[in-house]
Amino acid sequence: MMKFDFEKIKKEGKEKIKKAKNLEQLKEIFDFYFGKEGKISLIFKSLKEMGGKEKKKIGQIANELKNFLKREIEKKENELKEKLKKEIEEREWLDISLPGKKPELGHLHPLTLITRKIVSIFQSMGFSVVEGPEIENEWYNFDALNIPKEHPARDLWDTLYLKNNFKSENKKNGKFLLRTHTSPVQIRYLEKHQPPFKIIAPGRVFRHEATDSKHEINFHQIEGLMVAEKVSVPHFKAIISHFLNEFFQKKVKMRLRPSFFPFTEPSFEIDILCVICQGKGCSTCLGSGYLEIMGAGMVHPNVFKNSGLNPKFWKGFAFGLGLERMAMLKYKIDDIRLFFSGDLRFLKQF
Ligand code: PHE
Repeated sequence: MMKFDFEKIKKEGKEKIKKAKNLEQLKEIFDFYFGKEGKISLIFKSLKEMGGKEKKKIGQIANELKNFLKREIEKKENELKEKLKKEIEEREWLDISLPGKKPELGHLHPLTLITRKIVSIFQSMGFSVVEGPEIENEWYNFDALNIPKEHPARDLWDTLYLKNNFKSENKKNGKFLLRTHTSPVQIRYLEKHQPPFKIIAPGRVFRHEATDSKHEINFHQIEGLMVAEKVSVPHFKAIISHFLNEFFQKKVKMRLRPSFFPFTEPSFEIDILCVICQGKGCSTCLGSGYLEIMGAGMVHPNVFKNSGLNPKFWKGFAFGLGLERMAMLKYKIDDIRLFFSGDLRFLKQF
């Protein structure tokens, strides 16, 4: 007599396996039949107590059942694994047709572009590039440049001092300040170098200003200085004229207008025919037809003396060019404050 309802076990098993939703459930079903106390395992255990014919017969049926269930479980396992794989793939799926995120490349600031352009024009004429400190002291910024303490010219530049506890070591040097022009680089260079030479010194300067579209407290200049035994105003005119033609890529009309700087004698202001309206008069040149672009002059004898050079032997010219001004004319920018606004709509145009 058969103790077991093999058909029922088979049917139930098939049903259970079919319903398994995941690999964990399938594992439970496997244990239910084939674990230590599993249904099929128990059948095989009980075979031991049977004898002869019965054992053989039941053993054969039990074997078939075992193989059947194992096959079904294996089939289901493959099915579930396939399903899982698909799910993972779907989660990690990448739509390669979506537009990508373009890495944004930075680029040079318009002032850097202009500095490089100006520097390269002067370098092509044999000028060397030097730099000086942005924190200067009274001696280099004023006294050595022939601007003594009580001189009215100091008013124009007298500004932005560092707190008194930053007194510079050397008494003669006076207080520290943020340099108001690049002219102190003239003195620093003259002190340490034997003429003849020609240099330019680009850099940042600071002024006490009420800011508007043409004035900033923080801007840039390029200082120029050429010293030799025989240097005169015509040399200066020729060099600046060549520079302007190269910079604007056209013949630029310029004029020298008498002016005053304590550190040059004679002094002049360089004006160019307005590059916007060609002299007709516009808002950039305020109707005058001319634009003031730099201060200049022949190096004052006191500047040589203060730097330890004999003014009887050496002559020179110096000039100071406003960088923002040049960039504004070149790129037709109407507000100086844009350079430091950090506004990408402005910066991305260069
Ligand atoms: N340092 C002057 C200024 O800031 C410009 C200048 C430089 C004038 C050299 C003459 C010679 O305005």
